[in-house]
Amino acid sequence: MSIGTIIAPSILAANFAELAAEIKQVETAGADWIHLDVMDGRFVPNLSFGAPVIASLRKNSSSYFDAHLMVENPDSLITDMKQAGCDGITVHFEACSHLDRTLSAINEHDCRAGVALNPHTSVESLTHILEKIGLILIMTVNPGFGGQKFIKSMVHKIQQARSLIGDRPIQLQVDGGITAQTAPLAIAAGANNLVAGSAIFGAGADKYGSRIKAIRGS
Ligand code: DX5
Ligand code: ZN
Repeated sequence: MSIGTIIAPSILAANFAELAAEIKQVETAGADWIHLDVMDGRFVPNLSFGAPVIASLRKNSSSYFDAHLMVENPDSLITDMKQAGCDGITVHFEACSHLDRTLSAINEHDCRAGVALNPHTSVESLTHILEKIGLILIMTVNPGFGGQKFIKSMVHKIQQARSLIGDRPIQLQVDGGITAQTAPLAIAAGANNLVAGSAIFGAGADKYGSRIKAIRGS
């Protein structure tokens, strides 16, 4: 069921004063999904944006909206995220005491249910809940900030996630420090979905297309 690598630019690295225009530009440049990093200043030290901003952006975009919730108690945001127009909602394993229930709630909202794993969390933690998962997100940095360095020891974890997934229809996404240099490592290890912030938005808008192409490797 290979459809090539999905590239999901993270707008965390975009110009926040021009978010709608930035999204339009990466869409024109070949972005497949738009990655939305929601941070609460508690689960991670940083604050970003929430449902009202996403709802405004939804009015100007028909792309797949991929929300990555770096928040404590993500259950309380699921309905808001759905109503704001998110297509996928990814929660952190480390933030959920009752992950099975959280995933059921996301599925009941007709969103793709994702689970993100911090660098220290093993993929085996997901073995018993795979049937409820539509996306596994392997963090290749500690979450909270853009522009960090890809942690190379995560490549083995991407391989482990690939074998755990088998032939299930689960996206294997990687987030953090993805560049034209690190993307091939993630793809070779089995990732089919790459998030990239600074490697795309760090360039001028005229280069978004070539940056996306370089990350995709085609
Ligand atoms: C990190 C976020 C990432 C971040 C990636 O906590 O989840 O999505 O925006 O940024 P880069 O690509 O710059 O590492
Ligand atoms: Zn993210």
